[in-house]
Amino acid sequence: MLVNSPAGRIETNDYLCSKEPGMTDLGEKKIIIAVDGYSSCGKSTVAKEIAKQLGYIFIDSGAMYRAVTLYCLRAGLVVDGRVNLNGLEEKLDLIHIGFDFNEITRHNDICLNGENVEQEIRQLEVAQSVSQVAAIAVVRRFLVAQQQEMGRSKGIVMDGRDIGTVVFPQAELKIFMTADPRIRAQRRYDEMVAKNEEVDFEEILSNITARDRFDENREESPLRRAEDAILLDNSHMTREEQFSWILAKVEEKVKNS
Ligand code: CDP
Repeated sequence: MLVNSPAGRIETNDYLCSKEPGMTDLGEKKIIIAVDGYSSCGKSTVAKEIAKQLGYIFIDSGAMYRAVTLYCLRAGLVVDGRVNLNGLEEKLDLIHIGFDFNEITRHNDICLNGENVEQEIRQLEVAQSVSQVAAIAVVRRFLVAQQQEMGRSKGIVMDGRDIGTVVFPQAELKIFMTADPRIRAQRRYDEMVAKNEEVDFEEILSNITARDRFDENREESPLRRAEDAILLDNSHMTREEQFSWILAKVEEKVKNS
């Protein structure tokens, strides 16, 4: 599927949106679900599961900021931890973000100029620069326009930092997720160790807390809870509990809207 937007051409090969057995059927009514919150609190995992259950599109907006960051790193636009703003602005038109349906995981992988970079964008090097790249106004305008285009027909779950406040302020359901920083760091650590990556717990913890601080205090679309967002602190919740909690909220919203 190709989508044309003011921000350029978004390539989206088969977003996961077909009905499969065992899915929750909420009838014809489709809503927008915005999931925002702090770094590494499992937003994408639960958002992905909810989208699958509903037959909705799932978009990890953080992956889009990570892909732009990867482009910057590869293009030598990050020097001594600082982003070359003019250089990036000049090259923005050369950055094409797409999604490719992964038959094995049944989710969309992110592509940068046609290359699947789903794994590479999760590396610590990208995590260390992404908040700076995401604080740049032109980058946000560039990606927000694409994200809004993806939600045009509703039936979408998008997770990030500004989804309920900037991208879809009209979203029918907004969830703001948080969890204790050490618990979040432990989860990210376990995830990386499971992928055989050599990581240091304290380094991960300091990256998470630094990104939280940066995201909350930046001028452009800072991370904050939308007034109408429902808070979900999942420090002591299992994945299944979070999933059921959100699904109940979705059913309630669809019934009452
Ligand atoms: O996976 P994790 O929660 O650590 O982060 P992510 O969702 O992959 O997002 C990476 C970074 O992108 C965040 O720390 C934010 O700086 C930025 N971001 C943003 O500014 N706005 C969004 N809608 C999503 C991510």
